[in-house]
Amino acid sequence: MKVLVTGAGGMLGTDIMHAFKEHNTLGLTKPELDITKIDQVTKTIGQYKPDLVINCAAYTKVDDCEINKDLAFKVNALGPRNLAIACQSQAAAIVHISTDYVFDGTANRPYTEFDSTKPLGVYGQSKFAGEQLIKSLMTRHFIIRTSWLYGANGPNFVETMLRLAKEYSEIKVVNDQQGSPTYTKDLAQAVVELIKTPAYGLYHLTNSGNCTWYQFAKEIFRIEGIDIKVNPCTTEAFPRPAPRPKYSVMENYFWKLHGRPPMRDYKEALKEYLDSRG
Ligand SMILES: NC(=O)c1ccc[n+]([C@@H]2O[C@H](COP(=O)([O-])OP(=O)(O)OC[C@H]3O[C@@H](n4cnc5c(N)ncnc54)[C@H](OP(=O)(O)O)[C@@H]3O)[C@@H](O)[C@H]2O)c1
Repeated sequence: MKVLVTGAGGMLGTDIMHAFKEHNTLGLTKPELDITKIDQVTKTIGQYKPDLVINCAAYTKVDDCEINKDLAFKVNALGPRNLAIACQSQAAAIVHISTDYVFDGTANRPYTEFDSTKPLGVYGQSKFAGEQLIKSLMTRHFIIRTSWLYGANGPNFVETMLRLAKEYSEIKVVNDQQGSPTYTKDLAQAVVELIKTPAYGLYHLTNSGNCTWYQFAKEIFRIEGIDIKVNPCTTEAFPRPAPRPKYSVMENYFWKLHGRPPMRDYKEALKEYLDSRG
């Protein structure tokens, strides 16, 4: 299969490139393909003629999106729109990555693909617009909502905690936002499995289990054997520009309905990631 990966230099893009190395895969970084430029997108896809495009490109700085709203909608909504138009004209399928931040976090049970969305901030709104544009412009799409990503090639919460532990003996971490940490390597492998069938549609894909950021931090330090005092705090005590859902745990319901085995527990995945760092 001929595959084109956008945002290939990012955290997930790197693991997607690795997982798709058995395929004929071309990875393009932002300087090589800016998804906001429709002429560039149609020309590149028209020349390469992929069977599948995997869109890992996004404006992911959640707080910055509040200030740079136009840029957020350009990259996270118009970008996928451009890719959808180009894919449609080349009869290519698309895998597009979205987020748990499309939900407002008021649920008291894991969100399924059938639940209503209500993004709280610009990042979630722009990502949801991207989902809608892809859905309206092409049928052969896999839209994947995932959450709390960490992996080898990117700044992420795990790396932030390990850095803070070198600098401080005591830290505070938010304990009233709950989600499912997901290892990019596991997500990339799930994408490899997903695209083997034409079962297009919307999928929630996260590692199993869930926790708060505080509990996630405690688990990181437990596995690494790091002695640091971690104090739980509220979102209000750690103010950020963008509002975040208090509860964004998602059930991989569509994945389950297709008879797929559950993705492994986040603690097991986290241990493998930490071990791989050496
Ligand atoms: N990280 C998370 O916790 C998380 C959670 C849920 C969903 N997601 C979604 O997962 C996907 C991958 O995220 P990630 O964590 O791997 O993000 P990332 O590391 O920030 O990667 C995104 C990549 O897209 C590139 N990019 C930005 N604007 C672009 C443009 N106009 N054209 C082409 N490329 C562009 C970035 O390049 P520069 O760095 O040079 O700007 C970066 O290499 C995104 O769709 C994100 O919304 C992430």
